[in-house]
Order: sequence, then structure tokens, then C-alpha cells
Amino acid sequence: MLKATQIYKSYQQNEILHGVDLTVSRGEFLSIMGESGSGKSTLLSILAGNLRPDSGSVILDGKEISTLREKELAALRRTRLGFVYQSLNLLPTLNGEDNILLPLYLDRADTVRGRARIQELAGLLHIEKVLHAFPDTMSGGERQRVAIARALIHDPSILMLDEPTGSLDSASTEQVMKLLCHINAELGVTVLQVTHSEAAAAYGTRIIRLCDGRVVEQ
Ligand SMILES: Nc1ncnc2c1ncn2[C@@H]1O[C@H](COP(=O)(O)OP(=O)(O)O)[C@@H](O)[C@H]1O
Ligand SMILES: [Mg+2]
Repeated sequence: MLKATQIYKSYQQNEILHGVDLTVSRGEFLSIMGESGSGKSTLLSILAGNLRPDSGSVILDGKEISTLREKELAALRRTRLGFVYQSLNLLPTLNGEDNILLPLYLDRADTVRGRARIQELAGLLHIEKVLHAFPDTMSGGERQRVAIARALIHDPSILMLDEPTGSLDSASTEQVMKLLCHINAELGVTVLQVTHSEAAAAYGTRIIRLCDGRVVEQ
């Protein structure tokens, strides 16, 4: 469902990705591991269409995303893809529920259906009790689960997460990873995470490594 071929990316004169090839199949939970600074966030942003590569191709659901116009790309991102940033990007002035509904507000989409879906997602992610709380009063694990709910509000076919357990203790890491396994296996959402944690990566159905700007299969 996602195929990247010969992705190159430099910042100034510094080449970070030297021809990454990568395929994500429908239904898998893929972990991409790499050291800090190896280019994981850069690669994930390119795969999500948030950042353009210098060269190479990314095909998502049969569409070459590098040739889409901004508007088409935004529509594809909104409807097919859920993205959880490492910093989560929760708005501090909105409570949990409004943070989760934010993509629908931005899209001027049907928030009535969204509110019904919130109850479902809240049950699934065990966040019922923080729907009316603000992010600064939530625990790290609760914030992460609210951000995952927001990424799932559009019912995407693929969920991408940048270091989802980067700031969590081991108990919260286990909880979040088990939820991702459930979302993958039971809801049929393809999951792609980048992480530097061996423990988090191990929950994936496949692990690959980003090393010296290229992908190495395990
Ligand atoms: N916007 C940017 N401008 C310049 N250099 C950047 C930028 N983003 C990332 N880098 C550099 O690219 C390298 C890879 O970064 P990143 O993709 O964030 O790695 P990772 O997520 O694996 O830690 C790092 O050396 C980082 O400093
Ligand atoms: Mg990173």
C-alpha cells in the first residue's frame, strides 16, 4: 500500500537519505529502527507527504504523492493517513475531545458522526476520563493516546507514528504498544512506527533498520 523507491534527501550540503527503498504491505505493523539522527523523522515525513524528497518516488494507495498538487495531497493525507508527531501537537487550549475532533473541524466535516466515533475511540484507547481535561493535566501516556485517537478520527488505512514511546516510561510504553497491536490486528489499520527503542520496535510484525541513510532488512 506504500512503496518508496530511491529516496534521497539532503539538508544544505548534508545528505541524510542516500537512496531508501521501502515497501509497506497492507495489514502489517512495520517498525523502522535507527539511531538518533539517522533520518527517521525525515523519512517518515517524506512517506507521509509532509516533506518532499530531493528525488525518488513515494506511492501511497496507487498514487505518486510527489506529483500531487498541494490540495490533492492534503485531501489524501486527511482521508487515508493518520499521523502522530513526536511532539504530538496537541493544542493546549483545547480539551481532549476537541483535540481529537480538530481534523474534522479543520475539514469542516461532519462532527456529529465524529462525536459518535469519539466514544468508540475513547473506549478503545482508555481515555474516557480525559476527554474533558486539558493536555497539561494529562499524563504522558494519556496525551499519546489522545494524539492516536486524533490520528484515527478519519478512519485512515495507515497510521504513522514518530517515536510514539520516546517520552514514556516502560509501563506506558507497553500499554501504547499493545494498543497499536490491537489497532493493527483487530481494526485492520496498517501501522508504521519509527523508533530508536528495541523494546517498542519488537511489537511490530516486521522490523527494518535505517542505517547510513539506507534501509537494511532484518
Ligand atoms: N530541517 C532541518 N534542517 C537541517 N538539518 C536537519 C533538519 N531536520 C533534520 N536535520 C538533520 O538531519 C539529520 C536527521 O534528522 P532526523 O530525521 O530528525 O533524525 P532522527 O529522527 O532519526 O533522529 C540530523 O542530523 C538532523 O540534525
Ligand atoms: Mg526523530
